[in-house]
This record gives sequence, C-alpha cells and structure tokens, in this order.
Amino acid sequence: MHSDRRRKRHPLLSEKEAITLHGKEEVVKAAKALLRHNRRTVCGYTFTIPSPHEYRHQWLWDSCFHAIVLRHFDITAAENELISLMASQHKSGMVPHESKYTLLGAELPYTSRITQPPLIARAVLDVYSKSRNKKFLMDIFPRLQLYHHWLEDKREVDDVLKVIDSNESGEDNSVLWDDEFTIPTHMTYLRWLTTYVPFVPQKAAIKSVKSTAIYADALHCMAEIAKALGMREFSSYYKEKSEAVAAAMAAVFKLKDGMYYSRTNKDRPILYKTNSLFAPMFAGIVSKKEAKELVEKHLLNENEFWTEFAIPTVAISEPKFSAKGYWRGPMWVNINWMLHRGLLRYGFKDVARQLLQKTIAAVKKSGFREYYNPLTGEGLGATHFGWSTLVADMILKK
Ligand code: GLC
Repeated sequence: MHSDRRRKRHPLLSEKEAITLHGKEEVVKAAKALLRHNRRTVCGYTFTIPSPHEYRHQWLWDSCFHAIVLRHFDITAAENELISLMASQHKSGMVPHESKYTLLGAELPYTSRITQPPLIARAVLDVYSKSRNKKFLMDIFPRLQLYHHWLEDKREVDDVLKVIDSNESGEDNSVLWDDEFTIPTHMTYLRWLTTYVPFVPQKAAIKSVKSTAIYADALHCMAEIAKALGMREFSSYYKEKSEAVAAAMAAVFKLKDGMYYSRTNKDRPILYKTNSLFAPMFAGIVSKKEAKELVEKHLLNENEFWTEFAIPTVAISEPKFSAKGYWRGPMWVNINWMLHRGLLRYGFKDVARQLLQKTIAAVKKSGFREYYNPLTGEGLGATHFGWSTLVADMILKK
C-alpha cells in the first residue's frame, strides 16, 4: 500500500482564490476540487479526510456528508466513502466516530469507542438515488442492519436516542452539555479522554433531539432501502419503527411552547435555544403549524437565529452565545444543510433560498472553513474543510 503522502495531489484552490469565487457554478467546482484533494487511501480503503491539517482520519458523519456531495460528481467515490466507513464497524455492530488513522505514514487499525449521529442510512439512500446501483445497496445493507440493531440495543431509551458523550453528538463543545459535565468548558479537550482511552468512564449522557431526529430519518431510509431490495418485511419493520420514534420524540421532548428540547440523564429538559430546535423539521416530525412558528418566531428572528451569516449554532439572545466559540455560536454548514432540507420539506422555499444565499456568502467570503462567525462571516477552525462543501448539495439539491 502506498502511503497517502507520496500520492500525487489534485491541484486545489487556495483559500484566497476561494474568497474571490463568484457564482454558484464556481462554488460547486471548488467543492469538487476540495473533496478530490482530501481523498486518501488507508488500509486498502478510499475515503475523504475532513481536513488535511487538523483531521487526517475517517470520521463517521463527515463521511456521510462527503458521500452526499460526492454523488453529484463521482458516484464511485461516493460509494467507496461509505464502504470504507462500514469496514471500520466493530463486531458488535457499532460504527466508530473516528477510524483509519495514520501516524508518520504507518496505518493504525485503532478506532474510537463512541459513534456519531446515525446519518449512514440517509447517505446510502441519497447515493443510491443517483446511481440506482443495487449491488452497492445489497453489499452494504447487512452492515447497516447490524448498526441499527446495535443502536436499538445500546442507545435507545424510551424509543429516543441517548448520546453518551458530547463527541458522540457531533457537536463536541455544545452548551447542551454544560450542566452535565464535571469537566469545565475551558478544559474541554480533557473530555476527549473519555472518547479514546479505554476504562476512563464516560461521565455524561443526554437524550438528544438532534440525534433522534437523524435516527428517525435514518429508519425511514432503512425502510426505503429494504423496499428497493424487495425485502417487504424488513421494510415494514423499519417504517413502523421510524413512526414509533417520531411519536416518542413528541412524547419525550416536546414542551408546552411546542418546541423540542433535549433532556439530561436525570430527565430534566435542557432549555438553551440552539440549532437543535429546528432538527425535528429535518425528519418531518413537527406539524405544519409548529414548523411555521419555529420559522417565523425563531429562525427569522434577527435577535435569535437570523444573523447576516446565519444560522448561529446557539441563538444570539442566549447569554452563552459566543460568536467564535467552538459549537457555541458559529455557523456550521452541516447544520445549515439539515435546516435547508427541513425548510424544503415543509415548503418554505423562499426561506430556504435565503439560507442558501447566506451560506454561499460565507463560503465566498472565507472559503471552505470548519465554521464561521455568524455575524461577520469570518472563517474559523480547520481550512479546506470537507463537509462545508455541502453547500454544493444545497445548490444542486436532489
Ligand atoms: C470535530 C467536530 C465533529 C467532526 C470532527 C471531524 O470533532 O466537532 O463533529 O466530526 O471534528 O470533522
């Protein structure tokens, strides 16, 4: 196996060139070039790393996002991304949030001990909707089933999803965890110990609105995948399960104001206004009336989420809002992507278009960065960041 360092790289737009991009076509072109540049082969599998400097391994929900964008340009690469992801699956069925490490050119089979939001079935279905490749679907379905079996066994409580580590939520340093962790926020990197080092006990768990919405959608995708494979019984099982999870979301998370809040392990609602308020729209969980309220009262509210480079991960009205704080205020493109799909699902075409414009504006201003100041559009964190190319999927849609 070649070390990925020695492979010839596809040329890449510099951050400065990305800043001068004009028009949607250029954004799409730059997205394509970036995903190509971040492609690596490790342990015989080909996938896309999130960022060449900061994140040089395979990550679960990153790869799902990468595959969803790649399906527009290179369907084989999109399939390989997911095949590689599932190859790291543990015997138990768990798919780790991080795998396929390289250290000084050497390949390490080590993986992390936690998972990430279960977007895999969504990515598989989106890729299949472009390729119609049944062989890919057939090959991956047994592993997906095993993963969903593990989720049901190890992560479901009261039919909603429990997340046992802030890194498992994908929003590592979110304010949602502030009252759960004994480790103070400014020492957040100590939390990583629980993720990687065996025998360090995980200290917190929450019932998560975001992960459960992604789960309900994934179950719906599992039903569609089984249907495409002619497996009727499995299809009805997943369909019913998706409906049960949707119903449980309302029972467990909905408060009197009609909005959905995650809950602590001790079953206390976590009342901060974060982007998670909109997550139920992604899976079609809320009613039309509730969606309208969410959009009109909160999303389009300039004192909460409708900033110039929306949306902030935490409403700007929250005392905890921090414009540059990691997952504590900045705009992340994957969150906008989820919201964009939710808006289209409920028919808010014009709001979806405006959200897309805001996302494009941030990418044009600062390139594909890990996250952005939602007030100024300043790029923050990792550069050449893979999932920020989701803006291309928002442009190209289905
Ligand atoms: C950070 C993010 C996480 C992501 C990873 C790789 O840890 O919080 O969601 O998967 O980086 O991009």
